[in-house]
Amino acid sequence: MKAMIIEKFGKDVPLLMAEKPMPEIGEMDVLVEINAASLNPIDFKVKEGKAKFLLKYDMPLILGNDFSGIVIKVGSRVKGFISGDEVYGRPRKGRIGTLAEYIAVHQDDISLKPRNLSFEEAASIPLVGLTTYQAFHDILKLQKGQKILIHAGSGGVGTFAIQLAKLMGAYVATTASDKGYELVKSLGADQIINYRKENFEELLTGYDAVYDTLGGEVLKKSFQVLKPNGKIVSVSGLPNARFGKEAQLGWLKTTLLSIVSHKLTALEKKTRTSYHFLFMKPSGAQLKIIKGFIEEGHIKPVIDKVFRFEDAPQALKYLEGGGAKGKVVVKIK
Ligand SMILES: NC(=O)c1ccc[n+]([C@@H]2O[C@H](COP(=O)([O-])OP(=O)(O)OC[C@H]3O[C@@H](n4cnc5c(N)ncnc54)[C@H](OP(=O)(O)O)[C@@H]3O)[C@@H](O)[C@H]2O)c1
Repeated sequence: MKAMIIEKFGKDVPLLMAEKPMPEIGEMDVLVEINAASLNPIDFKVKEGKAKFLLKYDMPLILGNDFSGIVIKVGSRVKGFISGDEVYGRPRKGRIGTLAEYIAVHQDDISLKPRNLSFEEAASIPLVGLTTYQAFHDILKLQKGQKILIHAGSGGVGTFAIQLAKLMGAYVATTASDKGYELVKSLGADQIINYRKENFEELLTGYDAVYDTLGGEVLKKSFQVLKPNGKIVSVSGLPNARFGKEAQLGWLKTTLLSIVSHKLTALEKKTRTSYHFLFMKPSGAQLKIIKGFIEEGHIKPVIDKVFRFEDAPQALKYLEGGGAKGKVVVKIK
């Protein structure tokens, strides 16, 4: 099969089209013929070797973290899927590689794809959808009427997040530039802050929650908008000791995390809020819930651009450029 691989880590290392053996399936796996994959910043972070603290990969490595396609074979103990099923998913860590014609994936990591979406649209959902569902549902437990600030509302994560927060009944403020204004407004954002001209921390106060996709100074300033007992979930900031314990990273890594994140811990104490780093987990069960939201018309995919399979290297560079409005998708078949 054809696949897009890297042979070593590095920013300037090329993404190459290569011939790879067909994946073999285990008894709980399905073999999927991939129709489309979406790209996520984790792809260029993995390529650069920046994700090594949490993710270990051998070379050569097929890149790609989410997909849609058709099941063509099932393992002996697979219960929920049969050949011909149209599915979407995010394979578990250690089993990535969706920039390929086929993938063997554990049945627990996939769901039937939303019936009302094309394969390209469906492929845009799993990683950003699961991340945001886990942030809002599992950690924030976002309630009707609560106020949430969503950073980078026009990005791949942000476009999904605005829609899910509105579906959960929250009041949504978001940061975007002029280029993203109309998009985030159309998705239902209640208050839009032009991050190039305005300081969100001076405009917002008494918020229940912040969803941070940027980290750094933006994350630190975000503590100022929260009310006491408010929560920040970051998918881009520093992991802290709480995350180390929850992810069972062991004493050494957890201690290292508590040292590197000490400024965030001090901000938590000062503002009487809590900070949660999230590293999303694959979940076919949650993808099934998201499928329901999409089929009921509550959430629509937002696609910036679709690239051909052979143009995946350009697609990755485009995403890395940072200005995407919604998702970047690669059509495999
Ligand atoms: N931990 C996890 O499990 C997890 C999961 C998913 C994603 N993530 C991380 O989340 C981050 C965002 O992912 P993504 O897919 O949304 O990226 P993305 O699609 O590349 O985000 C691009 C968007 O961000 C906007 N933006 C850039 N700087 C901004 C700022 N200072 N304020 C407001 N908006 C800004 C850009 O708008 P303009 O062009 O208008 O500036 C653009 O629309 C990445 O770092 C990714 O690795 C982590």
